[in-house]
Amino acid sequence: MRNVVLVGFMGSGKSSVSKALAKSLNMTLVNTDLAVEKDIGKKISRIFSEQGERVFRQLEYQVIKKISKNENQIIACGGGVVLNSENTENLKKNGLIVYLRTDSQVLLERVKDSMKKPLLDVTDKEKQIKSLIESREEKYLAAADFVVDSSNLSIEELAGEIQRLIGVKEDAAR
Ligand code: S3P
Repeated sequence: MRNVVLVGFMGSGKSSVSKALAKSLNMTLVNTDLAVEKDIGKKISRIFSEQGERVFRQLEYQVIKKISKNENQIIACGGGVVLNSENTENLKKNGLIVYLRTDSQVLLERVKDSMKKPLLDVTDKEKQIKSLIESREEKYLAAADFVVDSSNLSIEELAGEIQRLIGVKEDAAR
């Protein structure tokens, strides 16, 4: 089966729903952040603080290029993957992209206490979230085969909705 690729802002539920989907569809689970960490042997926050965002984006690009060659995977992407259009192109070769769209206040509630997100390590998190969403929204939408609003859905509901959407598309492709 084609890959199912989850994109969306930090806190949109990509990691949790990817686990539920991989289990339910019996597909391989891949998380691009974890793959980067494994490749270089450092946590994302350390890569950002020691080498900077640019190096992180290069590592992320390499990981995506590699995993995009395989099939039958649920791929949970880091929130900034759509910033590079080559990532989107690579992911689309073997996969359907689902954008988990989430209300900014809901995102703020979910990520406000996280210490693991270097881009949100700022005093005014709300302002930062809004500004990043504003600069990324168009890219998420352009990349997406489907958009699902994840603001008010449980992980189970979200996984169910994604499976319904993919089913429709897979049937149409037959
Ligand atoms: C980022 C999101 C993070 C991680 C890195 C950068 C972003 O992943 O890739 O901190 O640019 O939005 P999550 O979306 O899984 O938190």
